[in-house]
Parts: sequence; structure tokens; C-alpha cells
Amino acid sequence: MTGMSSDGLLGRFDAFWEDRARIEYGFKMPEQWFLDEAEKMHPDGLRVLDLGCGNGRNAVPLARKGCKVTGVDISKVALSLLAKKAKIEGVSVDAIQSDFASLSFPSESFGLCVCYNSIFNCRTGELFEVFGKVKTWLSPKGRFLVTLRSSRTPAPDDSVLLPGESGTYITKRDGFEHFVHYSDREEVEKLSLGWNLVLVDETEELLGIGENKRKVWTFRLTLEKP
Ligand SMILES: C[S@@+](CC[C@H](N)C(=O)[O-])C[C@H]1O[C@@H](n2cnc3c(N)ncnc32)[C@H](O)[C@@H]1O
Repeated sequence: MTGMSSDGLLGRFDAFWEDRARIEYGFKMPEQWFLDEAEKMHPDGLRVLDLGCGNGRNAVPLARKGCKVTGVDISKVALSLLAKKAKIEGVSVDAIQSDFASLSFPSESFGLCVCYNSIFNCRTGELFEVFGKVKTWLSPKGRFLVTLRSSRTPAPDDSVLLPGESGTYITKRDGFEHFVHYSDREEVEKLSLGWNLVLVDETEELLGIGENKRKVWTFRLTLEKP
């Protein structure tokens, strides 16, 4: 495994998923958006890639619908939670521990790729690279459902703009150093070049637990491979 954004990514996300409060109070309900899209695409046997699948809150319900799901996450703690959930629900999900940068699949391996709040822990170049790879991995008319952190979201006070980058901030917290990339509308347009842009909207979300809740703005993109 090579580090996509920093060596801190693995440690940071293992710690994130070890946080019991996070497991008990968050990350339970699937994104209805993903389930609806899979339904429209005829889920039985649909090959789905869940990038940054976390504890499987989306991967497992998609598998229950009949999709053949591959979940990728850098965190082994997240993947053990996914395995537990899949076992309880009696479904199987292929799990791969990897960062996105070192991931590779044959062309046209999937009909649908979903990626919720997982792709922006990186620098600008890496973000464009992953979008390019996903396009290769999808079949024609395959869809990529992805969220980006909007630049309307204020970066945390303890983060610093990465020199030479317009939207990437670095934060040192809990002993880990990590990146968050914030996209503006111009960048969303650039990322969508070469795709059919089916839908984009920008919504406000409340993320975090207890007193650490904060408002963030999220772009939701539905892209189709021509
Ligand atoms: C906020 S969680 C979201 C999890 C899941 N998509 C969901 O909606 O419940 C982000 C997940 O993406 C994973 N992740 C972030 N950056 C990654 C990268 N570069 N490579 C692999 N996994 C990554 C993290 O380990 C974490 O499990």
C-alpha cells in the first residue's frame, strides 16, 4: 500500500472507526440516493465499487439488493466492521484494504461506483487521478455517484492551506497529519469533463458527533461514462 495523501491516512481512519461513539451513533443509515440509483440500474448482478466503504453502511444494503459489491477502504478497522455487518445480514462483499492511489482494476469492471465523503482526503492532482481511474473501471453508461467537500465550507481553524494548492488544507490532529480538499464549482466542472453530468447539487450537512458537530457543504455528483 502506498500513501495517497500522507502516511497519516491509515492511522487516522483506524482511529476514526475505533471511536465507539461514532459507530454507535453514526454511519448506520444507507444513502438512499445510492440505493435508488442501483434500483434504476437493475441491481441483480450489478457490479458495484464502493470507494471508501467504511463500515459498509452502503455496501451491505447494496449487496442485499443483489449487487456484486467490492468495498475498498484504507482502514482495516472499517473493513472488520464491514465484515461483521455483512455476516449479520448474510451477504457477501469483496473487501480490499488499499488507498485509492494504488488501486487498480481491469477496464470496465463495474457498472456503478459510489463514493460518499471519502474522496477528498487528498491533494488536487490525486483527486483528478481517481476520477480518471474510475472512468476507466466503469462500463459505458456506468455511473459514478460521488460527494465532494464544497469550498463554501470553512476549513477548520487548526488547518493550513497547502502551499501551491488552491483548495487543499492540511490539519495536524490527534498525532496525525491529513489533507482535506475543498472544491469550487469551477473545479466540479473540470472534474466532470469527459463525463455526462447527470446531476449536481450542493447541500448543507451536519457532520460529527456531540459537541464536535459542524456544518459542511457537500456537492453530490451523478456522472455517467459516455
Ligand atoms: C467519512 S468515512 C465515509 C465512509 C462511507 N463512505 C460512508 O459514507 O459511510 C471516509 C472513509 O474513506 C476512507 N478513505 C479516505 N481516504 C481514503 C483513501 N485515500 N484511500 C482509501 N480509503 C480512504 C476512510 O478510511 C473512511 O473509512
